[in-house]
Amino acid sequence: MEPLLEVKGLTKRFGGLTAVNRVDLAIRPGEVVGLVGDNGAGKSTLIKMISGVYQPNEGEIYFEGRKVEITHPSQARDLGIETIYQDLALAGNLDVPANIFLGREMKRSLLGGLIRVLDQQAMHDASRELLETLDVQFPSLTARIDNLSGGQRQAVAISRALYWRAKLLIMDEPTNNLGVVEQRKVLDLILRLRDQGIPVILISHTMHDVFAVTNRIVVMHRGRKVAEKKTAETDHQEIVQYMVGALDDSRVAEEPA
Ligand SMILES: Nc1ncnc2c1ncn2[C@@H]1O[C@H](COP(=O)(O)OP(=O)(O)OP(=O)(O)O)[C@@H](O)[C@H]1O
Ligand SMILES: [Mg+2]
Repeated sequence: MEPLLEVKGLTKRFGGLTAVNRVDLAIRPGEVVGLVGDNGAGKSTLIKMISGVYQPNEGEIYFEGRKVEITHPSQARDLGIETIYQDLALAGNLDVPANIFLGREMKRSLLGGLIRVLDQQAMHDASRELLETLDVQFPSLTARIDNLSGGQRQAVAISRALYWRAKLLIMDEPTNNLGVVEQRKVLDLILRLRDQGIPVILISHTMHDVFAVTNRIVVMHRGRKVAEKKTAETDHQEIVQYMVGALDDSRVAEEPA
Protein backbone atom coordinates (compact mmCIF):
# COMPACT_ATOMS: atom_id res chain seq x y z
CA MET A 1 0.00 0.00 0.00
CA GLU A 2 1.20 3.54 -0.80
CA PRO A 3 2.32 5.51 2.23
CA LEU A 4 -0.01 8.27 3.38
CA LEU A 5 2.94 10.12 4.87
CA GLU A 6 6.55 9.77 3.94
CA VAL A 7 9.47 11.79 5.27
CA LYS A 8 12.93 11.58 3.79
CA GLY A 9 16.15 12.78 5.34
CA LEU A 10 14.33 15.04 7.76
CA THR A 11 16.79 17.09 9.80
CA LYS A 12 16.33 19.78 12.45
CA ARG A 13 19.14 21.66 14.09
CA PHE A 14 18.90 23.99 17.05
CA GLY A 15 22.16 25.94 16.99
CA GLY A 16 24.92 23.35 17.27
CA LEU A 17 22.56 20.56 18.31
CA THR A 18 21.11 18.22 15.69
CA ALA A 19 17.82 17.28 17.34
CA VAL A 20 16.65 15.19 14.36
CA ASN A 21 19.26 13.74 12.03
CA ARG A 22 18.28 12.53 8.53
CA VAL A 23 15.24 10.54 9.55
CA ASP A 24 13.24 8.53 7.00
CA LEU A 25 9.76 7.34 7.92
CA ALA A 26 6.69 6.06 6.06
CA ILE A 27 3.19 5.70 7.50
CA ARG A 28 0.51 3.65 5.74
CA PRO A 29 -3.28 3.68 6.19
CA GLY A 30 -4.54 1.53 9.02
CA GLU A 31 -1.32 1.16 10.95
CA VAL A 32 -0.28 2.35 14.38
CA VAL A 33 3.39 3.24 14.58
CA GLY A 34 5.09 3.64 17.92
CA LEU A 35 7.78 6.31 18.13
CA VAL A 36 9.99 5.68 21.11
CA GLY A 37 13.31 6.84 22.52
CA ASP A 38 14.87 8.27 25.61
CA ASN A 39 14.26 11.84 26.79
CA GLY A 40 15.69 14.25 24.26
CA ALA A 41 15.95 11.62 21.49
CA GLY A 42 14.13 13.93 19.05
CA LYS A 43 10.64 12.39 18.95
CA SER A 44 8.68 15.58 19.60
CA THR A 45 10.91 17.59 17.27
CA LEU A 46 10.30 15.06 14.48
CA ILE A 47 6.54 15.20 14.81
CA LYS A 48 6.58 18.98 15.17
CA MET A 49 8.10 19.16 11.68
CA ILE A 50 5.27 16.98 10.39
CA SER A 51 2.65 19.10 12.15
CA GLY A 52 4.02 22.44 10.94
CA VAL A 53 5.39 23.74 14.25
CA TYR A 54 9.03 23.59 13.12
CA GLN A 55 10.53 23.90 9.65
CA PRO A 56 13.10 21.24 8.78
CA ASN A 57 16.63 22.37 7.90
CA GLU A 58 16.86 19.50 5.44
CA GLY A 59 14.68 16.79 4.04
CA GLU A 60 11.31 16.35 2.42
CA ILE A 61 7.76 15.54 3.47
CA TYR A 62 5.32 13.75 1.16
CA PHE A 63 1.62 13.49 1.97
CA GLU A 64 -0.75 11.43 -0.19
CA GLY A 65 2.08 11.11 -2.69
CA ARG A 66 2.66 14.83 -3.09
CA LYS A 67 5.60 16.80 -1.81
CA VAL A 68 4.38 19.30 0.77
CA GLU A 69 5.89 22.16 2.73
CA ILE A 70 4.09 22.48 6.00
CA THR A 71 4.85 25.97 7.18
CA HIS A 72 2.15 26.34 9.83
CA PRO A 73 0.10 24.04 12.10
CA SER A 74 -3.11 25.14 10.38
CA GLN A 75 -1.66 23.92 7.10
CA ALA A 76 -1.04 20.48 8.61
CA ARG A 77 -4.63 20.42 9.86
CA ASP A 78 -5.93 21.41 6.42
CA LEU A 79 -4.02 18.47 4.96
CA GLY A 80 -5.67 16.18 7.51
CA ILE A 81 -2.81 15.83 9.98
CA GLU A 82 -4.10 16.29 13.53
CA THR A 83 -1.68 16.32 16.43
CA ILE A 84 -2.65 15.84 20.02
CA TYR A 85 -0.01 17.21 22.36
CA GLN A 86 0.30 16.49 26.01
CA ASP A 87 -1.29 19.78 26.99
CA LEU A 88 -4.05 19.00 24.45
CA ALA A 89 -4.72 22.64 23.64
CA LEU A 90 -8.24 22.40 24.97
CA ALA A 91 -9.98 25.42 26.44
CA GLY A 92 -10.55 24.52 30.07
CA ASN A 93 -13.27 27.04 30.71
CA LEU A 94 -15.47 25.90 27.81
CA ASP A 95 -17.69 22.85 27.49
CA VAL A 96 -17.22 19.78 25.28
CA PRO A 97 -19.01 20.97 22.11
CA ALA A 98 -17.27 24.34 22.28
CA ASN A 99 -13.92 22.55 22.36
CA ILE A 100 -14.72 20.22 19.48
CA PHE A 101 -15.78 23.19 17.36
CA LEU A 102 -13.22 25.66 18.66
CA GLY A 103 -12.29 28.04 15.85
CA ARG A 104 -14.66 26.29 13.42
CA GLU A 105 -18.02 26.90 15.06
CA MET A 106 -21.35 26.02 13.48
CA LYS A 107 -23.52 29.06 12.83
CA ARG A 108 -27.11 29.61 11.84
CA SER A 109 -28.89 32.56 10.31
CA LEU A 110 -31.53 34.66 11.99
CA LEU A 111 -33.85 37.30 10.54
CA GLY A 112 -33.53 35.97 7.00
CA GLY A 113 -29.74 35.92 7.06
CA LEU A 114 -29.24 39.35 8.59
CA ILE A 115 -27.38 37.98 11.56
CA ARG A 116 -25.42 34.78 12.17
CA VAL A 117 -25.38 33.23 15.61
CA LEU A 118 -23.67 30.16 17.04
CA ASP A 119 -25.78 27.06 16.56
CA GLN A 120 -25.33 25.62 20.06
CA GLN A 121 -27.91 22.88 19.60
CA ALA A 122 -26.37 21.58 16.38
CA MET A 123 -22.89 21.53 17.93
CA HIS A 124 -24.21 19.79 21.02
CA ASP A 125 -26.01 17.12 18.94
CA ALA A 126 -23.02 16.54 16.68
CA SER A 127 -20.73 16.21 19.70
CA ARG A 128 -23.03 13.72 21.42
CA GLU A 129 -23.29 11.61 18.28
CA LEU A 130 -19.54 11.63 17.84
CA LEU A 131 -18.77 10.62 21.41
CA GLU A 132 -21.40 7.87 21.20
CA THR A 133 -19.68 6.37 18.17
CA LEU A 134 -16.45 6.40 20.18
CA ASP A 135 -18.25 4.71 23.06
CA VAL A 136 -17.02 7.20 25.64
CA GLN A 137 -19.34 8.06 28.51
CA PHE A 138 -19.76 11.66 29.55
CA PRO A 139 -21.86 12.66 32.54
CA SER A 140 -22.73 15.90 30.82
CA LEU A 141 -21.50 17.57 27.66
CA THR A 142 -22.06 20.97 29.18
CA ALA A 143 -19.48 20.38 31.91
CA ARG A 144 -16.43 22.62 31.71
CA ILE A 145 -13.42 20.78 30.31
CA ASP A 146 -11.59 21.61 33.56
CA ASN A 147 -13.98 19.34 35.42
CA LEU A 148 -13.45 16.32 33.17
CA SER A 149 -10.99 13.54 33.81
CA GLY A 150 -7.79 13.22 31.79
CA GLY A 151 -9.22 10.34 29.76
CA GLN A 152 -12.41 12.22 28.97
CA ARG A 153 -10.29 15.14 27.82
CA GLN A 154 -8.29 12.85 25.56
CA ALA A 155 -11.59 11.62 24.14
CA VAL A 156 -12.66 15.18 23.38
CA ALA A 157 -9.35 15.85 21.64
CA ILE A 158 -9.66 12.64 19.62
CA SER A 159 -13.29 13.48 18.77
CA ARG A 160 -12.21 16.83 17.47
CA ALA A 161 -9.63 15.16 15.22
CA LEU A 162 -12.24 12.68 13.98
CA TYR A 163 -14.94 15.26 13.37
CA TRP A 164 -12.60 17.29 11.21
CA ARG A 165 -11.75 14.14 9.26
CA ALA A 166 -8.16 13.70 10.24
CA LYS A 167 -6.32 11.42 7.83
CA LEU A 168 -3.42 10.96 10.21
CA LEU A 169 -3.39 11.33 13.95
CA ILE A 170 -0.23 12.02 15.91
CA MET A 171 -0.32 11.59 19.68
CA ASP A 172 2.55 12.75 21.87
CA GLU A 173 2.40 10.93 25.22
CA PRO A 174 -1.40 10.61 25.30
CA THR A 175 -1.61 8.33 28.31
CA ASN A 176 0.66 10.31 30.61
CA ASN A 177 -1.01 11.20 33.89
CA LEU A 178 -4.02 9.02 33.17
CA GLY A 179 -5.55 6.41 35.45
CA VAL A 180 -5.46 2.75 34.45
CA VAL A 181 -9.04 2.66 33.16
CA GLU A 182 -8.56 5.85 31.19
CA GLN A 183 -5.32 4.62 29.68
CA ARG A 184 -7.22 1.57 28.45
CA LYS A 185 -9.89 3.85 26.93
CA VAL A 186 -7.35 5.92 25.03
CA LEU A 187 -5.67 2.77 23.73
CA ASP A 188 -9.09 1.47 22.63
CA LEU A 189 -9.69 4.74 20.79
CA ILE A 190 -6.38 4.36 18.98
CA LEU A 191 -7.40 0.88 17.83
CA ARG A 192 -10.79 2.17 16.68
CA LEU A 193 -9.10 4.84 14.59
CA ARG A 194 -6.82 2.23 13.10
CA ASP A 195 -9.83 0.06 12.24
CA GLN A 196 -11.34 3.04 10.43
CA GLY A 197 -8.17 3.18 8.36
CA ILE A 198 -6.74 6.25 10.09
CA PRO A 199 -3.10 5.69 10.92
CA VAL A 200 -1.75 6.84 14.26
CA ILE A 201 1.76 7.79 15.29
CA LEU A 202 2.02 7.14 19.00
CA ILE A 203 4.84 8.62 21.05
CA SER A 204 5.06 6.94 24.41
CA HIS A 205 7.49 6.03 27.15
CA THR A 206 5.10 3.32 28.31
CA MET A 207 6.37 0.17 26.61
CA HIS A 208 3.29 -1.75 27.65
CA ASP A 209 1.06 0.65 25.68
CA VAL A 210 3.38 0.64 22.69
CA PHE A 211 3.37 -3.15 22.52
CA ALA A 212 -0.39 -3.28 23.10
CA VAL A 213 -1.46 -1.17 20.11
CA THR A 214 1.30 -0.74 17.53
CA ASN A 215 2.08 -2.66 14.33
CA ARG A 216 5.52 -1.18 14.06
CA ILE A 217 7.99 0.50 16.39
CA VAL A 218 10.48 3.16 15.39
CA VAL A 219 13.27 3.89 17.85
CA MET A 220 15.17 7.17 17.97
CA HIS A 221 18.46 7.77 19.73
CA ARG A 222 20.22 11.14 19.77
CA GLY A 223 18.27 12.41 16.79
CA ARG A 224 18.73 9.38 14.59
CA LYS A 225 16.39 6.55 13.73
CA VAL A 226 18.27 3.56 15.07
CA ALA A 227 15.65 0.85 14.56
CA GLU A 228 12.39 0.08 12.86
CA LYS A 229 10.80 -3.21 13.88
CA LYS A 230 7.52 -5.01 13.39
CA THR A 231 6.01 -5.16 16.87
CA ALA A 232 5.37 -8.88 16.51
CA GLU A 233 9.04 -9.48 15.70
CA THR A 234 10.65 -7.70 18.63
CA ASP A 235 10.30 -7.46 22.38
CA HIS A 236 10.57 -4.95 25.18
CA GLN A 237 14.16 -5.89 26.00
CA GLU A 238 15.40 -5.43 22.43
CA ILE A 239 13.66 -2.07 22.07
CA VAL A 240 15.27 -0.83 25.28
CA GLN A 241 18.70 -1.81 23.92
CA TYR A 242 18.07 0.41 20.91
CA MET A 243 16.77 3.20 23.14
CA VAL A 244 19.94 3.30 25.20
CA GLY A 245 22.21 3.06 22.16
CA ALA A 246 23.50 -0.48 22.80
CA LEU A 247 22.07 -1.55 19.43
CA ASP A 248 22.00 0.69 16.35
CA ASP A 249 20.81 -0.53 12.94
CA SER A 250 21.60 2.79 11.25
CA ARG A 251 25.32 2.34 11.88
CA VAL A 252 25.25 -1.14 10.40
CA ALA A 253 23.42 0.24 7.35
CA GLU A 254 26.04 2.94 6.82
CA GLU A 255 29.04 0.65 7.05
CA PRO A 256 30.60 -0.18 3.67
CA ALA A 257 30.10 -3.73 2.47
N1 LIG B 1 12.99 24.72 20.60
C1 LIG B 1 14.14 24.14 20.92
N2 LIG B 1 15.30 24.85 21.02
C2 LIG B 1 16.45 24.26 21.32
N3 LIG B 1 16.61 22.95 21.55
C3 LIG B 1 15.50 22.18 21.48
C4 LIG B 1 14.22 22.73 21.17
N4 LIG B 1 13.32 21.73 21.15
C5 LIG B 1 13.99 20.61 21.46
N5 LIG B 1 15.30 20.88 21.65
C6 LIG B 1 16.34 19.90 21.94
O1 LIG B 1 16.30 18.90 20.95
C7 LIG B 1 16.50 17.61 21.50
C8 LIG B 1 15.33 16.72 21.17
O2 LIG B 1 14.21 17.17 21.92
P1 LIG B 1 12.77 16.53 21.78
O3 LIG B 1 11.83 17.36 22.55
O4 LIG B 1 12.48 16.31 20.34
O5 LIG B 1 12.99 15.11 22.50
P2 LIG B 1 11.94 13.98 22.84
O6 LIG B 1 12.44 12.73 22.21
O7 LIG B 1 10.57 14.42 22.50
O8 LIG B 1 12.13 13.85 24.43
P3 LIG B 1 11.04 13.56 25.60
O9 LIG B 1 10.85 12.08 25.62
O10 LIG B 1 11.73 14.02 26.82
O11 LIG B 1 9.79 14.33 25.30
C9 LIG B 1 16.73 17.82 22.99
O12 LIG B 1 18.11 17.84 23.23
C10 LIG B 1 16.10 19.18 23.25
O13 LIG B 1 16.73 19.82 24.32
MG1 LIG C 1 8.87 14.87 23.61
